[in-house]
Amino acid sequence: MEVIIRPDAQAATLLVARIISREIEARPDLVLGLATGRTMEDVYANLVAFHRLEGLDFSQCQTFNLDEYIGIPCDDPGSYWSYMHEHLFTHVNLRRENIHFPDGMASDLGAACERYEQALVSVGGIDLQLLGLGVDGHIGFNEPLSALLSRTREKALTPTTRTQNAGMFGGDSARVPRRAITMGVGTILESRRALMLATGTAKGPMLAKALEGPITSMVTATALQLHPRCQVVVDEEAATELQGHEYYRWIFDNEPEWAEFRSMQDLKTQG
Ligand code: GLP
Repeated sequence: MEVIIRPDAQAATLLVARIISREIEARPDLVLGLATGRTMEDVYANLVAFHRLEGLDFSQCQTFNLDEYIGIPCDDPGSYWSYMHEHLFTHVNLRRENIHFPDGMASDLGAACERYEQALVSVGGIDLQLLGLGVDGHIGFNEPLSALLSRTREKALTPTTRTQNAGMFGGDSARVPRRAITMGVGTILESRRALMLATGTAKGPMLAKALEGPITSMVTATALQLHPRCQVVVDEEAATELQGHEYYRWIFDNEPEWAEFRSMQDLKTQG
């Protein structure tokens, strides 16, 4: 695992968007695993800007979202389908048939989960998985005690998560669905590259547990410590509780793999 600390949320978000755009340029038929949440909104805004201003081409990409609520139709404003269309899909040239979501309205949810796993296999797996961090330490909707080898399945959401995600339901946590379909921790660990973004002071304590604490199903983000190629981009506010702070800062400033990002004009002006 590598941790990259950027001065603020804007710079962290821009770096994540640049990493994604470089991957798409290198491999136009990239299979992208996508995440939702407020943190990702600016990542998608940057990708939309790259598409418009630089011609970043999504036409051969496939996308697989991490999760979707159960029991609300995709066009409900609170659904992740709506979120992704609002922030990314309607603004770039992704093909409709290349966009994939778990089907939270399926009459047989178990079969829908199985189909999602099969669809992932049929495209050869996820090349780059984008991840946020839940305040309860979840990745996707893998709530505490999710098996670290779990696959795509139904999961009941914790009260903490429903409160965290109330914003998309008019601020009313009672309206947030109680269940969701999520890729499993095991599914996420099979991605070829994982890229987590966490910003802001509220994420600080959980981020420290996730990155530097013992691996535990109580904090499913800790499973990323097992991932062979995982990078975590954070801002200074989220990084305050990290023990390895100085070392992580040194990595971005010195390691050759980050040289192209250090020298990018837009990232430089952010630094
Ligand atoms: C939801 C998603 C998670 C995401 C989290 C972060 O719970 N299911 O995948 O990591 O939101 O949300 P935010 O960026 O709003 O803090």
